[in-house]
Amino acid sequence: MKKIYLDYAATTPIDPRVTKAMLPYFSEKFGNTMSLHSFGQEAKQALEESREVVANLMKAKLNEIIFTSSATESNNLALKGIAFANENKGRHIVISSIEHPCIIESAKWLEKQGFEITRLKVDKYGLVEPDDVRKAIRKETILVSIMHANNEIGTIEPIEEIGKICKEKGVYFHTDAAQSFGKILIDVNKMNIDLLTTSSHKMYGPKGAAALFIREGTKIEPLIHGGGHESGLRSSTVNVAAIVGFAEAARICQREMKIESERLTKLRNKLIKGVLQKIKGSHLNGPPASAMPKALWAGPPASAMPKALRAGPPASAMPKALRAGHPKKRLPNNINFSFPGIEGESLVMQLDLLGIAASTGSACSSEKLEPSHVLLAIGLKPEQAHGSLRLSLGRWTKEKDVDYVLEVLPKVVKRLREISPFKR
Ligand SMILES: Cc1ncc(COP(=O)(O)O)c(C=O)c1O
Repeated sequence: MKKIYLDYAATTPIDPRVTKAMLPYFSEKFGNTMSLHSFGQEAKQALEESREVVANLMKAKLNEIIFTSSATESNNLALKGIAFANENKGRHIVISSIEHPCIIESAKWLEKQGFEITRLKVDKYGLVEPDDVRKAIRKETILVSIMHANNEIGTIEPIEEIGKICKEKGVYFHTDAAQSFGKILIDVNKMNIDLLTTSSHKMYGPKGAAALFIREGTKIEPLIHGGGHESGLRSSTVNVAAIVGFAEAARICQREMKIESERLTKLRNKLIKGVLQKIKGSHLNGPPASAMPKALWAGPPASAMPKALRAGPPASAMPKALRAGHPKKRLPNNINFSFPGIEGESLVMQLDLLGIAASTGSACSSEKLEPSHVLLAIGLKPEQAHGSLRLSLGRWTKEKDVDYVLEVLPKVVKRLREISPFKR
């Protein structure tokens, strides 16, 4: 049976070009970056070259990148590290209500240590209102942490405006860019970002590597103490092979981001349009599908794209409902539907039997069987949130995969609705 992977937001396969770049660092180039001999120096050089590549992709300086093991670790370091280094100024932190669990749980833990957390509401598309950030900031506020793009519904937050407000108010601004780094343009200076989280395994790199951008001069405490690696902010022998892979993945994203965004946006829009037309009562969660604004793309002009990648219907051919609302605010590869009357988990299992790997929401919360906090935050009722399906496309998604989903999904939804206890 053919297998179609549509869960790229959970994790991505490693690009073969990345694997190739990593291989020597498992064998002949195995040195410890702290060793003075040539093996160590070779590893150290690879580490610093990787740092430069990752820094470049967000327009940061070399000394502003700290390598960690995951976005979860980067987010923990950002929140707890800022909290403990700045508690003499104040103990108030602002986050949004749709953050990833690693921000939500870190904030809850800080609450237990005596910090105060404000959780901002979002609109029906999952957008944070910048003015709400302004109103939430007090003289004791030390940090605002609002994600760049949501992992469940793909909403791209107004980061630049929020960053500007934080800068005016003299409050550190952190953004979790695990889902957006390598997919849309990021400029930490233009966007007034002080701390930014990334993750290698969301962008065709290996698991076990990630980075936290920390603007020069930021007051932050380490969480892991030891030999003083990563400017004393993250002690532990450096995972050079994984970091080299992360950097190679970043290099590829930098080169191919524009072409990939355009291609995925077209496939995404075709899939959304097809499902909304074919499945009665289906609902798209998050911002409407629309063409991505040019400013979010990097790389060569569209005319440099191979013809095959430029094909597909123009944005003007989309139904009006799909073009209205908050255009430009959805990740190019994200789709999230609700199918009232069925359980998302049953749908995911049925699709898996037919060779389609999808998800009900975030991979981290899929075992909890609770309705998604993101879908509840955008106003869905628990029964609507239970019937959700996330399809996330990626580098190896083909048009024929989209066609297969459009053939199979309506039948599965129909069958599940027929046997649904909600129907009875
Ligand atoms: C927005 C966001 N933040 C953080 C994480 C955690 O990433 P990692 O698996 O690298 O810890 C994820 C993973 O799903 C994510 O989507």
